[in-house]
Amino acid sequence: MLPFTMLETNRLRLRHFRDDDCAPFMAYRNDPEVARYQSWEGITESEARALIQDVKEIQPWAPGEWLQIAIELKETGLLVGDCAVKIEEDDERQAEIGYTLSRVYQGRGIASEAVSCVLEHLFASLGLHRVIAITDCENAPSVALLERLGLRREGHFHQNVWFKGKWGDEYLYAMLQEEWQNMHSTNNPL
Ligand SMILES: CC(C)(COP(=O)(O)OP(=O)(O)OC[C@H]1O[C@@H](n2cnc3c(N)ncnc32)[C@H](O)[C@@H]1OP(=O)(O)O)[C@@H](O)C(=O)NCCC(=O)NCCS
Repeated sequence: MLPFTMLETNRLRLRHFRDDDCAPFMAYRNDPEVARYQSWEGITESEARALIQDVKEIQPWAPGEWLQIAIELKETGLLVGDCAVKIEEDDERQAEIGYTLSRVYQGRGIASEAVSCVLEHLFASLGLHRVIAITDCENAPSVALLERLGLRREGHFHQNVWFKGKWGDEYLYAMLQEEWQNMHSTNNPL
């Protein structure tokens, strides 16, 4: 697979994490609203530094490993969130994605811009066949983001996760390479 270096959109740079991302990374990871539907609750400075170090050392696109991609706002050069991609361990043509944005930067289309760019890279440059995302059914902004980008809701899992003190429901969303291409062909500009 092609190595990951950097991707660019109008407003964003999608790049590797750096040591100086630690403070903004901790700020959004420790925001209870941002953590609400995530597997984590918060992060200490030493955990954040260790996670950034791990992410820097990981082999990009290694099957079965989550690659955390930093989302930087070009205008300020600051970290505003991250996208995560895991190529499936048993089939390198399939992947799962995740995304997190600092609360201050939500509601501006930044997550849509970043995730769209990652999908384009996965389908067009890496030639993946299928990409999925799993979201808590109550996470309305996440559901809206996936539907805005054209992913299909394929599954509704009822009380399949014990999550923060109660059983939670999850939706499975998916997109195939041919669906992405049809959506972005010149005959059907977004
Ligand atoms: C899920 C998450 C990334 C969505 O972020 P978001 O900012 O709502 O998503 P988008 O980038 O698609 O922005 C859409 C909003 O920006 C508005 N917007 C403004 N300018 C826009 C533009 N140029 N393009 C698109 N939307 C734009 C849209 O109208 C929409 O507003 P609305 O929420 O009032 O309808 C964010 O809520 C988050 O990080 N949550 C915490 C982490 C989390 O739960 N992650 C998911 C785990 S599965």
